[in-house]
Amino acid sequence: MSHPIETENLRKVYKLGKRKGDRIAVDSLNIAVPEGAVFGFLGPNGAGKTTTIKMLLDFVHPTSGSATIFGNPTSAASSRRLIGYLPEQPYFHKFLRPIEVVSMHASLAGVPRKEVRQHSISALERSGIAEYSDTPIGKLSKGLTQRVGIAQAIVGDPKLLIMDEPTSGLDPIGRRHARDLILQLRDEGRTIFLSSHLLSEVESTCDIIAVLKRGKLVAMGKPDDVQAKGKQVTIQVDTLTDETKASLKFAKVGIEEEAGAIRLCVAPEMLYWVIRMLEKSGAKILRLQTERESLEEAFLRLAA
Ligand SMILES: Nc1ncnc2c1ncn2[C@@H]1O[C@H](COP(=O)(O)OP(=O)(O)OP(=O)(O)O)[C@@H](O)[C@H]1O
Ligand SMILES: [Mg+2]
Repeated sequence: MSHPIETENLRKVYKLGKRKGDRIAVDSLNIAVPEGAVFGFLGPNGAGKTTTIKMLLDFVHPTSGSATIFGNPTSAASSRRLIGYLPEQPYFHKFLRPIEVVSMHASLAGVPRKEVRQHSISALERSGIAEYSDTPIGKLSKGLTQRVGIAQAIVGDPKLLIMDEPTSGLDPIGRRHARDLILQLRDEGRTIFLSSHLLSEVESTCDIIAVLKRGKLVAMGKPDDVQAKGKQVTIQVDTLTDETKASLKFAKVGIEEEAGAIRLCVAPEMLYWVIRMLEKSGAKILRLQTERESLEEAFLRLAA
C-alpha cells in the first residue's frame, strides 16, 4: 500500500542571486505519512514547512529528490484530486461570499453539480462559518476568513488534507473547533498533514510529528517519543569537589548552583557514570528526579 505522502531526499534550494548565494529551504527530507494519521509538521519560522507543502502540491519543483501522493508523482492530476489544501494565508476575492467560494471549490474538486450546494453548506457548517455563508469575504475577520479556507479545503471530500498552519489566526474557541474537526476528519479515515509552530496544538491532535530545523528533519515520532528522548535526570548533591566538578563539566554534565543547592542535569545514558563518579568523590545524593520534558522544551531543544 502506498503512503498518502512519501518523500525521498526531497530538497529545495532557492537561488538568491549572485551576491547572496543559495538558500537551502528543504534538505534531503525523508518522510512517510501513514494513511489515517494526523501528521504534524513542525518547525520554527523559515524551517521549510511551506516550501515542503508547495512541493507536495507541485507548486514548486524540487531541486532534487522526489515526493509521491498515494504512490503517484505530485504532478499527476490524480494526485491533486485526492488533496484538500488550506494555504498558509488563504486569500479570497473580497466581493465573493463564502458559499460562492466553497461552491467553486466543490465544482473544481469534481463534486456532481446537483450536490454542490449541499456539500458546500455542509462544509461551511463543519467549519463553523455557516452563519456567514452570504457575507462578502471582505467583511469577515481574519479568523473567519481562515474558516472559509478550511471549508474550501474539505468540501471536495479529500482523502488527504494538507493544511499549512490551520489554527493560525484563530481564537481559542476557533482552535478547539479546528482541532475537533481535524480529529473527526481523521476518524472518517482521512489523512491530515498539518504544519504548525504551536506545540500545544499538535500535542493533542497529532499521531506523529516531524520536527524540521533549517530544512532538515531533526526528530520524528509519536509526540511522546520525541519528548522522551530529551528526558533529563536531575541529581541534587550536597557537595562537589573541584576535581569532580571538572570531570563532570568535561563530560558535558550541566551543573547548576543556586542558593546553596547543587543540581546536575544528566542525560539518561550518562546516569550510571555520574552516580559512580559521585560515589567515588564522597558526594551525597540528596535527590534524584526524572524531569519530563514538555513538548515546548523539546521543540526549543530540537529546533532552536
Ligand atoms: N520563493 C522564495 N525565494 C527565496 N527564498 C525562499 C522562497 N520561499 C521561501 N524561501 C526561504 O526558504 C526558507 C524556508 O521558508 P518556508 O516558507 O518554507 O518556511 P516555513 O517553515 O513555512 O516558515 P513559517 O513558519 O514562517 O511559515 C526560508 O529561509 C525562506 O526565506
Ligand atoms: Mg510557512
